Amino acid sequence: MIIKEALRLAAKKLSDVARRPLFEAEILLSNILKQDRVYLHIHNEEVLEEKLLKIFFKDIERRAQNFPIEYITKKVSFYSEEFYIEEGVLIPRPETELLIDKVLENVDLDEKVTVAEIGIGSGVISIILAKKLKNARFIATDISKKAMEVSKINLKKHSVEEKVELKECSLLDCVEEKVDIIVSNPPYIAKDFKLDKNVTFEPEEALFGGKSGDELIKKIIDIALLKEANLLICEMGYDQKESIKRYCEKKGLRPEFYKDLAGLDRGFVLKIDN
Ligand SMILES: C[S@@+](CC[C@H](N)C(=O)[O-])C[C@H]1O[C@@H](n2cnc3c(N)ncnc32)[C@H](O)[C@@H]1O
Repeated sequence: MIIKEALRLAAKKLSDVARRPLFEAEILLSNILKQDRVYLHIHNEEVLEEKLLKIFFKDIERRAQNFPIEYITKKVSFYSEEFYIEEGVLIPRPETELLIDKVLENVDLDEKVTVAEIGIGSGVISIILAKKLKNARFIATDISKKAMEVSKINLKKHSVEEKVELKECSLLDCVEEKVDIIVSNPPYIAKDFKLDKNVTFEPEEALFGGKSGDELIKKIIDIALLKEANLLICEMGYDQKESIKRYCEKKGLRPEFYKDLAGLDRGFVLKIDN
């Protein structure tokens, strides 16, 4: 079968799950051929080896079951950089790029600070920040072994392994030292929320934050106070603003909330006077 035909057939198989079926088919084939999409267009009459064709249609079948394309290619783009990803670790979302922007708005690029990230996942937040904040050091935790492995690969890939210390534990239970800034994109979905099919392939511990969803966020606010951090920047669910606002106000704190590009409440910046 030639490339053009294989792509046409594959796109048909993906038409129920993908918004851009041909584009996704091209991504999957270029991933197998280790070529870019332009190559596919230039060589569209070229015959595909039987072995490669088999691998390609196996990937297409998995994608047709809604399995995320990033878990197949093992690549994900975040903040215009490429990261390694694999099943068992949350696929970073574009809205989390806003959390990075909020940190950069609130922290001087040359400041000598210790930043703690709760729930590093694939490592995207700490890695981008480690590249931007020249004099900062990072301590990042996660309860997931897989997240530890994948973030380690990404720290190396982006040459920041010297700046980010990984620690496997819950919240900041294993962090003794003083931290100035806490950042987190914690799990914040309510336990009984019905997930879209494609999200069900992602790890539960990265998604569900408790019965109402914001339980872990409230714990993180408590930790920021206990640790006497000056700044907490945290992502949250679109419907959690009121409960987080109330929780903070009870403690005499005034969070500043920010919205995502869809106009939904998505996170908050909490400045703490110690
Ligand atoms: C929503 S994911 C965010 C991953 C990554 N920071 C990102 O933005 O793509 C949440 C992460 O928190 C981790 N996690 C869940 N509960 C935790 C806890 N109690 N302490 C530390 N990490 C936790 C999960 O394993 C997951 O990697």
